[in-house]
Amino acid sequence: MDQRLIEQLMKDDEIRIFLDDKSLEAKERNRFHPPLCEVFRKPITKLEEGNHGFFIDPEAKKKLSSIINNKVQYIVEDKSDDPQIDEKYHKKRRIGIVFSGGPSPGGHNVISGLFDAAQKANPDSVIIGFLMGLDGVIENESIELKKEDVDHYRNLGGFTLIKTGRAKIDSPEKIRFSRQTCKDLELDALVIVGGDDSNTNAAFLAQELINDGIQVIGVPKTIDGDVQVRDEDGNVLCAISFGFHSAARSYAQQISHLCSDGSSDVKYWHVCKVMGRVASHIALEAALQTHANLTLIGEDLINYVDHKRLAENNKEGEIDFDAYGVTLQQLSEIVSQAIVRRAKYGKNHGILIIPEGILEFINEIQKFIIKLNTIIADFNNSNNKDFHTVLPTLNEKLDYLNKLVENNKAHSIWNKNDNEMFNEIPAFFREDLLMERDTHGNFPFSLVETEKVLMGLVDEHLNKLIMQGDYKIGIERNYYEKTLKKGGLSPQEYGPILFENYDDLAQKYLLMKKPIICNKSLKEILLKANTLTDHEDLHPSLIKILKKSIPNFKTRLHFYGYDGRGSNPTRFDSMYAYNLGYSVFSLIANGSTGQMAAIKNLEKGFEHWEPIGIPLAPLMHLEERKGKLSLVMEKSIVDTESQAFRVVKSLREKWLAADESNDCYRKPAPIRFTGDTEEDRPITLILNGSDALKKV
Ligand code: FBP
Repeated sequence: MDQRLIEQLMKDDEIRIFLDDKSLEAKERNRFHPPLCEVFRKPITKLEEGNHGFFIDPEAKKKLSSIINNKVQYIVEDKSDDPQIDEKYHKKRRIGIVFSGGPSPGGHNVISGLFDAAQKANPDSVIIGFLMGLDGVIENESIELKKEDVDHYRNLGGFTLIKTGRAKIDSPEKIRFSRQTCKDLELDALVIVGGDDSNTNAAFLAQELINDGIQVIGVPKTIDGDVQVRDEDGNVLCAISFGFHSAARSYAQQISHLCSDGSSDVKYWHVCKVMGRVASHIALEAALQTHANLTLIGEDLINYVDHKRLAENNKEGEIDFDAYGVTLQQLSEIVSQAIVRRAKYGKNHGILIIPEGILEFINEIQKFIIKLNTIIADFNNSNNKDFHTVLPTLNEKLDYLNKLVENNKAHSIWNKNDNEMFNEIPAFFREDLLMERDTHGNFPFSLVETEKVLMGLVDEHLNKLIMQGDYKIGIERNYYEKTLKKGGLSPQEYGPILFENYDDLAQKYLLMKKPIICNKSLKEILLKANTLTDHEDLHPSLIKILKKSIPNFKTRLHFYGYDGRGSNPTRFDSMYAYNLGYSVFSLIANGSTGQMAAIKNLEKGFEHWEPIGIPLAPLMHLEERKGKLSLVMEKSIVDTESQAFRVVKSLREKWLAADESNDCYRKPAPIRFTGDTEEDRPITLILNGSDALKKV
């Protein structure tokens, strides 16, 4: 019966359109042809070396010797008409492509760009997609991508076509298997689309496969926006990875809906945690997109100084290094202060954005994460067993830590003080901090309930402030006067008794005097002022005003992560990723290996875009991973000297609106292709690339 109904419905043209698995919007996206950088509209491209220097880590020189001398390559038109070049450029190629790490909107366009460029050069060329990330390369799980597969996903989000994974090629055996796969598939080149860890893999594979004649090219992907490249003179070569703009816009849109709801319902502080494993780029962009009342930027917290503590300890002639950087407690006080300040103007609601990686910038938590990373890695290495499998419960893990303290000499990294401090943390948070690390040894920030921990402390602190009379809701003068008159009382008589600022007529919001925090204290004040006798009850109008001044702090916690990571790409990301696909092909066709495809001048707008190849080896430096120093690509965190950050910092007070002004929330549009009002690049890039700001 149901089947017959469906068949009948599918005969109706209009209904069929709306029951189709692909929406009209998705079909329109499929039809969109992202514009190409001018050079890709030419028949043949060539590479010209740029004159950019990099600081080279000696370890990179040693381990990546075959690609360490690579230079920045500019992709330009080849006008030579040389038949040999022509033949080489147009030869039939077999190119493998793999996604690595978290999905990032635009990934399908890297594939379609590469596919179109390869087909344009030679229709017999083949693109092979490795399935489920680098495991697909190691285990030779792959599919040949056909035009209809590629067309199906053009300009759509996710990495659905070939999926992704977090595997790492980090052992001679995995390299041997990968080499074998590339040989079995007769690949000319392998393209690794990923973040810092995946581009590290690309560099090492390029080094390993160079003598096999297999080229390896990386592509900067990650919503976190922390793959950015500058040369040693500070010139920007890659301003941002693809996917950042779409994810940030998606989060910003959700947050802006909360701004509308919150400023209508006026009863909640909405706490929005946004993705970004370590760097706060997404939070910064979301702040610029929404003008939320308060946005915490992890990198900014490093600059925090506890001046009181410093002064106290300086007296004893010592520098207290713990006074630098912020603790969880101090952070909760900073947030509480913002809440209290808004409340004075009647606003006991607001929007707070927290980057998920903020924990990395909080003194004691950062210490715990680093120490526990090392302890877990050491356990795994020395026992050849997995820490979490051997010690599955929190109690077993805590017992293990206790034993480390007892045998302090054997493991000096975890001492009695660490153990005591760790045990003061709520159990759920201890469990979070002990969670399994990913294959790269990274801490799983997305899974930690940072917002819950922080807001728990904020709640505690605010309760203390309520009891001290320091957290109160400002009462509108008109409302107070109206209420008292209605109750038959004289506002002028009671005003100076009840409020700190009643006589200052310029003040629209009246602040109840500090000691008045309950009926009892209100009664005491009125008795003292001889406006009430012992036998009289409090007048209902006065109780009403008192009640209104006592805050009822309520939060709603939100996590914006996987949802935005899977959103459709913005027009910017669609164009960027598609041109990256073309850049990859040009690099391969011109013989490059150990390079990362990039587009220079993203911060300046499409007409200035310049496709380039950036050498991967000089981007590697030594970093502690899984308790050992490893050569990895450096992550770019938010630069607190950058123009974008400075703008956000200077607008903080305005956006907090802890005064009589209205909140100045901004509404970013939904992600779309059409219309002239769609911004053409992230606001962070617009500000960082602005010459107008450089003069200030
Ligand atoms: P990539 O660095 O691989 O692009 O992934 C980034 C990210 O989305 C982070 O923002 C987030 O912390 C993490 O992945 C979540 O990881 P998982 O998908 O393993 O839960």
